[in-house]
Amino acid sequence: MGGSMLLHRLPLRVVLLLCSLVALFSVVTADVVQTTKPGCVNRCGNLTFAYPFGMNDAGDDCYFKEESKSFLIFCNDSTDPPTPRMYSKDSNFRVLDISMESHEISVTVFVAKDCYNSSGTSLYNNDPHFSLPIFPISSAKNKFIAVGCNTYATFSGSTYVTGCLSSCHSVLDVINGSCSGIGCCETSIPRDAYRYNISVTSYNNHLGISEFNPCGYAFVAQDGFFSFSTDNLRGPPFDMVPLVVDWLIPNQTCDDAQKNTTTYMCRENSNCTDAENGNGYQCHCLKGFQGNPYLQNGCQDINECVISQPCVEICTNLPGTYNCSCPKGSRGDGKKDGNGCTPTKRFRSMDIVLGVSISFLLVLLGVSWLYWGLRERKISRRREKFFLENGGRLMLQKILSEREGSIESARIFTDEELKKATDHYHESRILGQGGHGTVYRGILADNTVVAIKKAKIFDRSQVEEFINELIILSQINHRNVVKLIGCCFETEVPLLVYKFVTNGTLSDHIHKCGHESTLSWRARLRIAGETAGALLYLHSCASAQILHRDIKSTNILLDENYTAQVADFGASRLVPLDGTQLTMLVQGTLGYLDPEYLCSSQLTEKSDVYSFGVVLAELLTGLRALSFERAENERNLSLYFASAIKGERLFEIINPMVLNEGNPEEITEVAMLANQCLTVKGEDRPTMREVAMELEVLRAMDRHPWLNRSGDLEEAEHLLGERSSECDGILRSNASGSDDSISNQVAFEIESRR
Ligand SMILES: *[C@@H]1O[C@H](CO)[C@@H](O)[C@H](O)[C@H]1NC(C)=O
Ligand SMILES: *[C@@H]1O[C@H](CO)[C@@H](O)[C@H](O)[C@H]1NC(C)=O
Ligand SMILES: *[C@@H]1O[C@H](CO)[C@@H](O)[C@H](O)[C@H]1NC(C)=O
Ligand SMILES: *[C@@H]1O[C@H](CO)[C@@H](O)[C@H](O)[C@H]1NC(C)=O
Ligand SMILES: *[C@@H]1O[C@H](CO)[C@@H](O)[C@H](O)[C@H]1NC(C)=O
Ligand SMILES: *[C@@H]1O[C@H](CO)[C@@H](O)[C@H](O)[C@H]1NC(C)=O
Ligand SMILES: *[C@@H]1O[C@H](CO)[C@@H](O)[C@H](O)[C@H]1NC(C)=O
Ligand SMILES: *[C@@H]1O[C@H](CO)[C@@H](O)[C@H](O)[C@H]1NC(C)=O
Ligand SMILES: *[C@@H]1O[C@H](CO)[C@@H](O)[C@H](O)[C@H]1NC(C)=O
Repeated sequence: MGGSMLLHRLPLRVVLLLCSLVALFSVVTADVVQTTKPGCVNRCGNLTFAYPFGMNDAGDDCYFKEESKSFLIFCNDSTDPPTPRMYSKDSNFRVLDISMESHEISVTVFVAKDCYNSSGTSLYNNDPHFSLPIFPISSAKNKFIAVGCNTYATFSGSTYVTGCLSSCHSVLDVINGSCSGIGCCETSIPRDAYRYNISVTSYNNHLGISEFNPCGYAFVAQDGFFSFSTDNLRGPPFDMVPLVVDWLIPNQTCDDAQKNTTTYMCRENSNCTDAENGNGYQCHCLKGFQGNPYLQNGCQDINECVISQPCVEICTNLPGTYNCSCPKGSRGDGKKDGNGCTPTKRFRSMDIVLGVSISFLLVLLGVSWLYWGLRERKISRRREKFFLENGGRLMLQKILSEREGSIESARIFTDEELKKATDHYHESRILGQGGHGTVYRGILADNTVVAIKKAKIFDRSQVEEFINELIILSQINHRNVVKLIGCCFETEVPLLVYKFVTNGTLSDHIHKCGHESTLSWRARLRIAGETAGALLYLHSCASAQILHRDIKSTNILLDENYTAQVADFGASRLVPLDGTQLTMLVQGTLGYLDPEYLCSSQLTEKSDVYSFGVVLAELLTGLRALSFERAENERNLSLYFASAIKGERLFEIINPMVLNEGNPEEITEVAMLANQCLTVKGEDRPTMREVAMELEVLRAMDRHPWLNRSGDLEEAEHLLGERSSECDGILRSNASGSDDSISNQVAFEIESRR
């Protein structure tokens, strides 16, 4: 049974925090941050760009128009992927990246090369040049580098010439990894360089060294791109290198630009800085805002309360900032990194007198409680009887009468029997411990192995949960729901006896400590399908709808065939069929809890769908639902997963094993399904029927790849439809067959009801 019986009751603060996360989610989904003008394309191949950059296929308004058309991106669609290029008078450069924050563009440029044969005849020489009209080459981010043992390289612009010289007589002189004049030299780039010509020559035509160094070469490249090694003397390992240029709004300082509001480019909530390199200015969103400062309403307020959670108690988001405060009755600045909130302490003599008398009373109470407690133990036999008569037996009789002996009834075990089976509840028999109680491995007199769940002593609410679980499980008989064998009410706490499920929890298999999970993609898909089937059954087939309320990977057990067995129905609820709304104390496990339920306390079947979505995401990524070892924005798997899908980074977070075995379409489809289940609004989530159907179709296609999808979908629909009418009537299906027809695989096993 694993240590899975844990049920967290959430403190109010956690609830608030999660609710604010929900709020953030809705904000993000509501206003997609605008990065281009309306109607404009912002993507070419793998490059995304934002206004002032743009293309001209949706009209000239998409990019910032100025004389040189420097903000115009050409997208060559005849390559795959399409290549973005930047226009320049005498050449065009491939764009690798455009950064809005640092105002930089990364482009590719050619390497200058100069080669000779062993008798000193020149074989090859090119002197590439580069020029952009208004964007200067970044002096901070680039280096000019020349490589060769007989090499003299210059880097010249309209107003400057710089360069370096590198020599060596033998490869032995060269220090591997060091670019300091022997075999390799480098120099920095001046400011305000808009164009350059590179030339490489040799002062001795590489005579005598062409064996290990036939060529000299030079280039300007992003600092850090190239690290020199001895092997590089043979020739350049690349033809093109990345170069960083700074971009800016040209030809004006901030002061001048601000004078004419019609042409000034920085919009509200942004400020202007004069470019450090080149002639022009740059706009930035103010502190506390983020977005595109060049667009109307581009800089949007950052909701610090949600994103960085800087306050301990009350947080108010204000434009550009936030305000922490403490609730009434406490003081402090309310900040996490400040002094937080401390309750106001006011001791008055009256309080002290009151305190002393209360403590005295408490001690008195404690002593008498102890006394009564001891007495209670003495008459525990009587208490047992009391319990039996008042709770257990009544309940049991009710259940048993409801079942009308349709299948073999739950067995009633005696205290003695179970003591014997568990070796007097010996420690070595403990399978797991959790909020609900302790689970022991037991061996009955007939050698059947069982799992025995024992409530923690003296907790009335746990006893209720046990009885609840007993009622619910006694109504269910499904292949993928853990089977209840019997119960025992003779002891002071009730005991439930289940079929023993041998292979531990799904969580154990996904998150194997220390080593890679061995659960194959097929098995994952099957387990997901089985779990979905069990949930569909709970939601739609049982006599009253049953909500599990605590679906998570530790509550899904695996038997010897790795078949899923849904367990732990302690938190589950029967929903009356008249559709009354259930409002109740929020229960569940952090990381799996439906945010909507958390905020509204309205329990619906969609809460299980959400939790199932988290399990799907776990199966896909192999990540835990909640892990404080991950970075802050990755802690909550459901949010992390949704953001990965949104950012088209899905495949980065998929478990390598899954990636290896599954085909990408299938993985994407399951991921999309999980994503739908994780929708914040319950209404928008699919029903368990739709989820189960989708998974069945995927599995069926897997087994019978020749089936076409639409036909298969119909078949699954048909089958599910058939079964649902079955569910409405008397449930009986010959489910234990073992032939491998699709219908049998799709059909859920329903053997009895009530
Ligand atoms: C687009 O790329 C192809 C293949 O590299 C090239 O032949 C063609 O000239 C390019 N078109 C333009 C307009 O640059
Ligand atoms: C786009 O792809 C090229 C190579 O295909 C890569 O060098 C470049 O970094 C990529 N750009 C972005 C923004 O991912
Ligand atoms: C080098 O090239 C020149 C001109 O092509 C040729 O005459 C000479 O023989 C070459 N030397 C060697 C060693 O190949
Ligand atoms: C660079 O070379 C081109 C011809 O290749 C020449 O027209 C131009 O004047 C040169 N520029 C500089 C700055 O040397
Ligand atoms: C030089 O260093 C690089 C990286 O440090 C290494 O890969 C390479 O093998 C080294 N070359 C020689 C000749 O030692
Ligand atoms: C920059 O401004 C000057 C005068 O203000 C003008 O003559 C020149 O053409 C402008 N250059 C560009 C590239 O806009
Ligand atoms: C602002 O710039 C626009 C366009 O260049 C021009 O028509 C207008 O006269 C300028 N206004 C002022 C106040 O300089
Ligand atoms: C503009 O805003 C940035 C970011 O908030 C800040 O670093 C910079 O000092 C501000 N510059 C001016 C001139 O206000
Ligand atoms: C922050 O909120 C508190 C309580 O609402 C208020 O007294 C205080 O003036 C606020 N501070 C700012 C900077 O708005």
